[in-house]
Amino acid sequence: MAEPTFRAPKGTRDILPPESGRRRALVDRFADAAGMGGFGEVVSPIFEDLGVFKRIGESTDVVTKEMFDFLDKGDPPQHLALRPELTASICRAYAEHRPVPPWKVWYEGPQFRYEQPQAGRYRQFTQVGVEVLGADDPQADIDVIALASRFFESLGLTGVQLSLNSLGDATCRPAYLEALTDYLTGHNSDLSAQSQVTLERNALRVLDSKRPEDQEIIDGAPVMVDFLTDETADHFASVRGGLEALAVDYTISARLVRGLDYYTRTTFEFAATSLESAQNAVGGGGRYDGLVEDLGGPATPGIGFALGVDRILLACDAEGVFPAPPSPVSVFVVDVTGGSHALDVCERLRRGGVGADRAYGGRSMKAQMKVADRSGAPYAAIIGEDEVAAGEVTLRDLRGDAGQRRVALDDLVRDIHALTN
Ligand code: HAM
Repeated sequence: MAEPTFRAPKGTRDILPPESGRRRALVDRFADAAGMGGFGEVVSPIFEDLGVFKRIGESTDVVTKEMFDFLDKGDPPQHLALRPELTASICRAYAEHRPVPPWKVWYEGPQFRYEQPQAGRYRQFTQVGVEVLGADDPQADIDVIALASRFFESLGLTGVQLSLNSLGDATCRPAYLEALTDYLTGHNSDLSAQSQVTLERNALRVLDSKRPEDQEIIDGAPVMVDFLTDETADHFASVRGGLEALAVDYTISARLVRGLDYYTRTTFEFAATSLESAQNAVGGGGRYDGLVEDLGGPATPGIGFALGVDRILLACDAEGVFPAPPSPVSVFVVDVTGGSHALDVCERLRRGGVGADRAYGGRSMKAQMKVADRSGAPYAAIIGEDEVAAGEVTLRDLRGDAGQRRVALDDLVRDIHALTN
């Protein structure tokens, strides 16, 4: 095959059938689960004012290195960016529209991060997620985490592990940050060059380093859970107790800080044991009790998560679960009289709620049967001159051993429903 003139940009990909059907089925499954949990869908703009995303944290990779930002054609131009995630957009929408809290919303869609692409890490990827705004209650944390956990289970995944931590709040964070900064500064010369720079901007971010030379120092660092105030510790205990009551398995991961700066109190991540560790996070989330206010809205607690659809499908591949759904086409219409009868029969079937497809170009019976076979449809409705004259089709079982029989056109929809239900 000749080299194509253009390819999809680096870090993006075309998702083609049947994989696209699997992706759609996964998103639909999530929409059902979120809807059943009382969440309504929000459809947000793909780009926002860059300032919205800056609130994710001025020292995070997402903001400093990975933003797809651009100036629009306005006078003066507005500095915009493709969204790298949706939590900031949802909080911006909350501050803008002031819905009645608690506001429970879900979303799906593409996100953009200028990362080094590799398996499971893309520059355009899809997330599904939920956010609850205006609820401080640990019950909200439990509800949200259990929703994600049950969703993974519903796909048939067994190798997804939940890590849980509390990052404290504005009351307990300063004392912890001081202890952490003192500790890391004491080990500054042993840290990687990158972490030394990070330390000057945000000590917490150093804990997120995956560089081998930092690991021993990180392992010895003080942990946030030892600095929680009574109130924050109680909240964390309630979340743990609720998860245990629901039999949601988790492990406490005291050094889990996540890659975004807005988190407070409960934070969590889901990792797929079947994937390479650099890309095994299939979802994550937590509380971000200051973000709405940061975006100019009223003080509003929030909690949510986002799951990476592309990575979840990789984990499903690795575990051999959640196959592509069967084709919704039940009947492939083979018309050897030229093609116009196929048009009528397909129309009749589709109007009757039966998925139907056909070939084009007046091809031979053999060629059309080949396409019928490839289509995955369980039945072929064959139309020749005899069938046209009799007002019938020949219905052939393509997958089983029922052979073929003539069916009156008027009975076709009823018969197919009877056979496929
Ligand atoms: P995040 O951890 O940055 O959190 O992303 C959530 C998930 O998106 C990751 O666990 C991963 O599965 C997927 N993901 C992230 N980057 C990529 C990439 N480059 N390629 C493929 N998949 C990727 C957030 O985005 C927060 N907004 C989650 C949240 C919601 N927190 C509170 N509410």
